[in-house]
Amino acid sequence: MQLAHLFYRSSGRLDAFDRDCDDILSVARQRNGEAGLTGFLHAEDGMFLQWIEGAPELLDPVIASILADTRHRDITILGQGPVAARKFPSWSMGFSQGRTAPLFEWLAKDDANSRDVTAYAQSLQRFLLARAA
Ligand SMILES: Cc1cc2nc3c(=O)[nH]c(=O)nc-3n(C[C@H](O)[C@H](O)[C@H](O)COP(=O)(O)O)c2cc1C
Repeated sequence: MQLAHLFYRSSGRLDAFDRDCDDILSVARQRNGEAGLTGFLHAEDGMFLQWIEGAPELLDPVIASILADTRHRDITILGQGPVAARKFPSWSMGFSQGRTAPLFEWLAKDDANSRDVTAYAQSLQRFLLARAA
């Protein structure tokens, strides 16, 4: 089966961040489950980091919904396109948050910064994989 993914970072609405996370997750898990999509979402200090993957024809409409969603903005695409295998096969949408798993500590330990975009995206990807393990 052909597989594709989207990996991005964005800024959420600070005033309703926690409520937005709850709403997003319940819709995401239902819709992703129906479409066989899997992935992981991390939320921290008004920032979202998300990996979503699945069959391209089922993934594309969900990507269009996510990119058009007004609950976040300043979307930076960190990766998009075909993948050989799923990275988050057991999660209809896994979730972690900065209060229990701070991304900024991880980046400092990994010595990663956004000047080298490829290394930065790889570090962020390892972060999500570690959360899902
Ligand atoms: C940060 C963020 C992550 C989201 N992740 C998903 C997701 O994984 N799957 C999903 O179906 N919707 C996700 N959504 C919600 C969609 O943007 C959209 O509201 C929902 O799929 C309903 O689609 P519709 O508004 O086109 O009917 C996410 C929204 C945000 C802001």
